[in-house]
Amino acid sequence: MSTDKQKTRKKVIAVGGAKGGIGKSIFAVNLALLLSSVGRTVIIDLDLGGANLHLYLGETHLRWNINDFLNRKIATLQEALVQSRYGVRLIGGDSSQLGSANINFSLKLKLLKAIQQIDADYVILDLGGDTSYNMLDFFLASDCGIVLTTCDPASYLDAYNFIKVSLFRKLNLLLGSNSGNEISKNISLKRLVHEATLSPNGSRVKTINELLKRIQETHPHELPIIRKAMSGFTPYLVINRVRDERRTE
Ligand SMILES: Nc1ncnc2c1ncn2[C@@H]1O[C@H](COP(=O)(O)OP(=O)(O)O)[C@@H](O)[C@H]1O
Ligand SMILES: [Mg+2]
Repeated sequence: MSTDKQKTRKKVIAVGGAKGGIGKSIFAVNLALLLSSVGRTVIIDLDLGGANLHLYLGETHLRWNINDFLNRKIATLQEALVQSRYGVRLIGGDSSQLGSANINFSLKLKLLKAIQQIDADYVILDLGGDTSYNMLDFFLASDCGIVLTTCDPASYLDAYNFIKVSLFRKLNLLLGSNSGNEISKNISLKRLVHEATLSPNGSRVKTINELLKRIQETHPHELPIIRKAMSGFTPYLVINRVRDERRTE
């Protein structure tokens, strides 16, 4: 039986995809509008380099935005919340300043912590169209990840790569020294995953299956833990702008 705490737990949903202009923001806004009919919903513009989400909710001017929180002009992210005319509450961004997309590690942690503290039933993260570590970490911080694509090869190639590198990033974080996981003490496995997913020296793997094969050969006892971590990674794929359903197969 679920406890009250579980019942009221906030759900963070990230909408990503490694290409711009494919409908991530419009989808995220529509999802937020739908969810606002069943629970208190906040949508956040995490496309730090191309923040325009506020326009989709009819807001042309934001008094405060995410960057003001990161630059300490406001003390809490909550202060940047705007009640849009459509019911959804919004935290917008501002990409007009040089460097606003390149937030450092500690600012990213500050932002992620503040997102977890938002008082809402649903928090939708509208991500930018790239595979930077910041974007992957926003995606991985969610309870539910949605990857958008269109039927264009450039878009589904990017969606595939976004999913693949997100999983690579997840495994590297799992094995990272700060993860607190027992498996992170296995130095040779850590090195193998690091080299297979990051190394520029030719030992990189191209696919998840190749990585699993390599782990199976060298660290068979750890394979179940890696598989378990992978099985917890279940992003949804949404195909936008479908004109001919046969192209979705
Ligand atoms: N299914 C759709 N039907 C009509 N227009 C769409 C659809 N999806 C996206 N668009 C339009 O495409 C443009 C880019 O969408 P946007 O959501 O800003 O993309 P992204 O956030 O991926 O950069 C916008 O003008 C949006 O209204
Ligand atoms: Mg967008």
